[in-house]
Amino acid sequence: MPPEIGDILITAEAIAQRVRNLGGELARVYADRQPVLVAIMKGCVPFLADLMRAWPGPMHLEFVTAESYHGTRPGQVRLALPTDFAYRVAGRHVLVIDDIYDTGATLRTVCDALQALEPADLRTLVLLRKRVASPPAPVAGTRPGPDWVGFEIEDRFVIGYGLDYNGLYRNLPYLAALRQA
Ligand code: IMP
Ligand code: MG
Repeated sequence: MPPEIGDILITAEAIAQRVRNLGGELARVYADRQPVLVAIMKGCVPFLADLMRAWPGPMHLEFVTAESYHGTRPGQVRLALPTDFAYRVAGRHVLVIDDIYDTGATLRTVCDALQALEPADLRTLVLLRKRVASPPAPVAGTRPGPDWVGFEIEDRFVIGYGLDYNGLYRNLPYLAALRQA
C-alpha cells in the first residue's frame, strides 16, 4: 500500500449505503421534474456514477470542469463550461454535484455561472463537507452551502472515491486520510 494512503475514514460499504439513501431521497424530491445534473469534473465521477444508478427517474447529465487545488492548498478557481451550455440549463431544474465542500469557493463559482443562465431552480449536492472552525461568511446573492451532504468529515485532506492528491488515488473504493511525510 502506498505510504500516502492513511487511515480509512469511510468504507466502501458505508459509502454505498449512504449513496443508496441519497438516490432514493433525490428521486422523491425530483419526481416528475426531469432535472439536469451538472457534475463538476473530475472528483465526482465515482459518486455520480453510483448515485445515478441509485436514482430511478428521468434526468439529463452535463459536465463542467473546475480546478482549484494545487497539492493540498486551494487557489483560484478555474471554471470551464461547454460552449452550448446555456440552452441545456435555461428554465431547467439544475442539481450541481461535487465531491467535497471545503471553502465553498468552487461551488459558489459554478453556481454563479449557472445562475446567470437562468435555471428554473438551482440546488447543490456534495458527497463530503469539511467541518471547519470558521465557516465562510455568506456571500450576498449566493446560496450559503450545499442542499444535500453525504457525509460531514473532519478538516483533513482526504483521498479516494474520486478525490485526488496531485491527480492520484481517485480510484480507491473508500475514503482515506492523506498521510504526508
Ligand atoms: P472548495 O472550493 O474550497 O470548497 O474546495 C472544493 C474543491 O477542492 C473540491 O471540488 C475538490 O476538488 C478540492 N478539495 C477540497 N478538499 C479536498 C480534499 O480533502 N481532498 C481532495 N480534494 C479536495
Ligand atoms: Mg473538485
